[in-house]
Amino acid sequence: MTIELPELKVLFSEEAIQNRIKELADEMNEFYNGEEVCAICVLKGAVMFATDLVKHLNMPLKMEFIRLSSYGTGMVTSGKVNAVDISLPDLNGKNVLIIEDIVDTGITAKFLTDFISGNFKTKSTKFCSLLDKKITRQADIEPDYYGFEVDNKFLVGYGLDYEGYQRNLRYVGYVEK
Ligand code: IMP
Ligand code: MG
Repeated sequence: MTIELPELKVLFSEEAIQNRIKELADEMNEFYNGEEVCAICVLKGAVMFATDLVKHLNMPLKMEFIRLSSYGTGMVTSGKVNAVDISLPDLNGKNVLIIEDIVDTGITAKFLTDFISGNFKTKSTKFCSLLDKKITRQADIEPDYYGFEVDNKFLVGYGLDYEGYQRNLRYVGYVEK
């Protein structure tokens, strides 16, 4: 049996994404000024973005991976954050950089920043998301860094999935109704 995947229109090409990542990395390299960073990749969605971004960061850096999920199935958010695996090392006194794929309602971002501030006294905590759907925000949170602002469309590719598929695309596309 073959799965029927939606047809996508390209929103951000591979080239546009990679260029924007270099710009973000330049800003971060300037901000951190050689200080050590702990980058936390929020699986599964941020895997592509996080791995591409850190390649352009030039300070001593460690990577951590946590796994959260909020989307149940299909294209509607469940509104609840499911912390599948949130084991982290001691982040006291560290520069923490959280790397996400997309901030939509902001519930996940809020959960995560509250979790970090509730458990650690970090030197700094910054939130970076490739995509920012500002228009659908419910929680009071804005990413410190974001790649692109996007409309309220369901986006797929470059880590973002449709029913678990299409994370492997090199571009971000949207589903045409
Ligand atoms: P939030 O908690 O509503 O901000 O949603 C955050 C999570 O929902 C993201 O980390 C994504 O994994 C997922 N998500 C939100 N919008 C989209 C989308 O357009 N496509 C795929 N996943 C999405
Ligand atoms: Mg995500």
